[in-house]
Amino acid sequence: MGNPLFATKSLEELTKEATDSEHGLKRTLGPLNLTTLGVGAIIGAGIFVLTGQAAAQYAGPAIVLSFIISGLGCAFAGLCYAEFASMIPIAGSAYTYAYATLGELFAWIIGWDLILEYLFGASTVAVGWSGYVVSFFRDFGIVIPSCLANAPINYDAHAGWMMTGAVLNFPAMFIVAVVTTLLVVGIKESANFNNLIVIVKVAVILLFVGFGIAFIHHANWIPFIPPNQGHFGEYGFSGVLRGAGVIFFAYIGFDAVSTTAQEAKNPQKDMPIGIMGSLGISTILYIVVALVLTGMVSYKQLLVPDPIAVGIDAAGKSLFWLRPIVKIGAIAGLSSVVLVMLLGQPRIFYSMANDGLLPKKFAAVHPKFRTPYVTTILTGTVAMIVAGLFPIGILGELVSIGTLLAFVIVSLGVLVMRYAKPDVHRPFKTPWVPVVPILGALLSGAQMVGLPLDTWYRLVIWMGIGFIIYFFYSRKHSKVRAAARANG
Ligand code: ALA
Repeated sequence: MGNPLFATKSLEELTKEATDSEHGLKRTLGPLNLTTLGVGAIIGAGIFVLTGQAAAQYAGPAIVLSFIISGLGCAFAGLCYAEFASMIPIAGSAYTYAYATLGELFAWIIGWDLILEYLFGASTVAVGWSGYVVSFFRDFGIVIPSCLANAPINYDAHAGWMMTGAVLNFPAMFIVAVVTTLLVVGIKESANFNNLIVIVKVAVILLFVGFGIAFIHHANWIPFIPPNQGHFGEYGFSGVLRGAGVIFFAYIGFDAVSTTAQEAKNPQKDMPIGIMGSLGISTILYIVVALVLTGMVSYKQLLVPDPIAVGIDAAGKSLFWLRPIVKIGAIAGLSSVVLVMLLGQPRIFYSMANDGLLPKKFAAVHPKFRTPYVTTILTGTVAMIVAGLFPIGILGELVSIGTLLAFVIVSLGVLVMRYAKPDVHRPFKTPWVPVVPILGALLSGAQMVGLPLDTWYRLVIWMGIGFIIYFFYSRKHSKVRAAARANG
């Protein structure tokens, strides 16, 4: 069967695993729940925090174009995810797709890499949540001391790693703990909680857009693309591109839908709806919010932790009532992002443990709640520690580079599969192959290149740790390799 490092799992085996749900995860999610899960994962710190920062520093009002470019890259990758998720509806998402197409080593690489997206993603958004909570309480005269709501460790490109004097980011740790508890209790309950929050955050965004439109001053949109300042990325067209790289974070999450494939009632039909539906809804909301926000206030004033509130302030007293509502919406919205991230990670660990690449204990399903409780608690504990220790900037860039790498591998995987197994039944087919997967890989790769060198080093170190674990543990315990040995 060739080099065992590249041993693949057969589609028959995967289909059997997916249908053997007797003792596995509970199938409760329909197309609407899957779409709201996606929206719950997508709309978060990206739109509520990063839009303003990217407009102020890189793109100006043309941040709208950045959203379109990054959204397009995600749409190409999303179509590839949709093909895989309907063809191989297993909880492991991109990890499983790689196992079926590119082989075990790639599966391990992507599984290990996805920890950056989900586990670190949850920590990143928890830190954003902490910022909004502090600001909300401050509006009511309650001051949470800065040393109890900030990262004790920071990194500066010139000074290197340093201690900030803060103790821990306690609010960020708190939200991770609450969400983890909820997830152990059950996915149905979690999905209901998520639906409620999604309604709140979408309503808040629509309120902002609906009332904000009347306060747009066209002068704020001129020039739409501010002239470049002489350096790559400082406004001008390169600024639009860098803006796209930064706000890519805002789109992360639609792929999380695919990790719940084993809990979907009809994954073949509903996975593509959940993935593309949530991506489409979020893209439209983002473009409209970016237009209204940069029309209400000059982009130069948006370099703040709560840019939407600044937009509202610019409208004067008549919109003052909207300020606390937006903050509540942001706090609720960020909680649901943390939820979906912490929902996705244990399901990937669950698949990896079922394959023998991680200890068997990781695949334990709770006898009463039927949730992967061991991995949920493990993920929650590590995410809590990370959220307590590190600042949002470092975490966010790591999450982006990790996710983009997964997008590249998934896009290429669709191509490989089309040529290697052209006759397999594909309930959903990515259109215009090979153009769409190639563009998905190229656009994701280009955004990786745009990220700082330090982030690349961290990715390499992380993957290095992963290789050590693979060669010393996973390779020896792999079920696919054991089966291959048994078959001679
Ligand atoms: N897309 C998610 C957010 O913006 C990760 O918070």
